[in-house]
Amino acid sequence: MKQYKVIVAGATGMVGRKMLQVLEERKFPVGELIPMASVRSVGHTVMFSGKNWNVQELNEENIKKSGAEIALFSAGGSVSKEFAPICAKHGIVVIDNSSAWRMDPNVPLVVPEVNREKIFSGSKIIANPNCSTIQMVVVLKPLHDKYKIKRVVVSTYQSVTGAGQKGYDQLMKEWNKEKVESPKFPYQISFNCLPHIDDFTESGYTKEELKMVNETKKIMGDDSIVVSPTCVRVPSIGGHSESVNVEFEKPFELNDVFELLKNAPGVVLQDNPKEKIYPMPITAYDKDDTFVGRIRRDDTVKSGLNLWIVSDNIRKGAATNAVQIAEEWIKGK
Ligand SMILES: NC(=O)c1ccc[n+]([C@@H]2O[C@H](COP(=O)([O-])OP(=O)(O)OC[C@H]3O[C@@H](n4cnc5c(N)ncnc54)[C@H](OP(=O)(O)O)[C@@H]3O)[C@@H](O)[C@H]2O)c1
Repeated sequence: MKQYKVIVAGATGMVGRKMLQVLEERKFPVGELIPMASVRSVGHTVMFSGKNWNVQELNEENIKKSGAEIALFSAGGSVSKEFAPICAKHGIVVIDNSSAWRMDPNVPLVVPEVNREKIFSGSKIIANPNCSTIQMVVVLKPLHDKYKIKRVVVSTYQSVTGAGQKGYDQLMKEWNKEKVESPKFPYQISFNCLPHIDDFTESGYTKEELKMVNETKKIMGDDSIVVSPTCVRVPSIGGHSESVNVEFEKPFELNDVFELLKNAPGVVLQDNPKEKIYPMPITAYDKDDTFVGRIRRDDTVKSGLNLWIVSDNIRKGAATNAVQIAEEWIKGK
C-alpha cells in the first residue's frame, strides 16, 4: 500500500493532537509525519506511532522541502488563509479545519457521509465544516432526502473544548480556583453559560450562528433550507449538544424516522426514555459517531420533529471528519 507524507499544521493544538491520534487509530498510511506549528513550538516533539517527531515552523521553505502530498490544517483562520494556497502551489492537497475557505465557491465543504463526491471537484483545498454544523447535517441528511427540510431551529450547548486549549484551560483553572491570566471567554464559564460564540455581527447573530446557516445550505446542496440558530457555550467537555427542531415539507411516520436514523452512516441512535437512554457529551467523548435521541413529533406544526444531537467536537467535529476526507481522497485517486 502506498504510504503518504502528511503535514499536520497546528499539530500541538487541541485538534492537531487529536488528528495524530485519529490518523494512528484508523491506520492512515502515513509514511512520514511532518508536524508543524508556530515558531513557539520549534524544539518540541509530538508522539506518533510510538516515535517522537520534531515540530517544524509552518513556513513556505519547510512546506516546499517537505515533499508532502497531504496537509491537515488546524492552526486558525489567518494561518490557513496564508499557508493553504502555498501548500496547493506545491501540489499538496489541504484539508482545512478553519473557517477561512469554507464559503469560497471554488472550495468544496465536505462531510463524507453527506457529500463525499465534492472531494473530487479538482480543488487542492478542501474545507472541513464547523463542528456544530457537521454533527447536525450527518443526522439531517437522510431525513432531508426523504421528507425535504423546510426550516430548522437549533440551539447549541457547546463544549469549552470548541475554543481550543485555552478554553479548556480556563474551565479547569476556574474549577480549581486558580487565577486565569488571559481568559478565553469574556465571562466566567464554570457554573455558567454564554450565549456568545465567535464575534457578534451587525445582524445580532454571532459568526458561529451564521456558519450554521450558510454551511448547512452548502453541504446539503440546497439553498432553500433555512436555519435559525442560537449558539451557547456551556462548561461541558466531551462534545457539543444540540436541540434541533425541524419542519419538513412532507409528512412522516415517527417509526420511519427511527428506522432511517438507525441505518444512517455515522449515526448512532440512543433513544429509550424509559431506560433513561439519551445522548450526552460525557458518553460521546472520544467517539467518532454522532449520537441522536429524544426523538419526538412536534405537534405545534404540520410536519415537525424534535431531536437531541451530540457528538465529540474534536473528533467528528474536526479531526475525524478531516481524516475521513483524506481517506476518501486516497481511495478516490
Ligand atoms: N476545537 C474545536 O472543537 C474545533 C473544531 C473544528 C475546528 N476547529 C478549528 O481548528 C483550529 C485549531 O483549533 P484548536 O482548538 O486546536 O486550537 P488550539 O488548541 O489553540 O491550537 C492552535 C494550534 O495552531 C497553532 N498555531 C497558532 N498560530 C500559528 C502560526 N502563526 N503558525 C503556525 N501554527 C500556529 C498552534 O501552535 P503553537 O502550539 O505553536 O502555538 C497550535 O498547534 C481553529 O481554526 C479552529 O477554529 C476547532
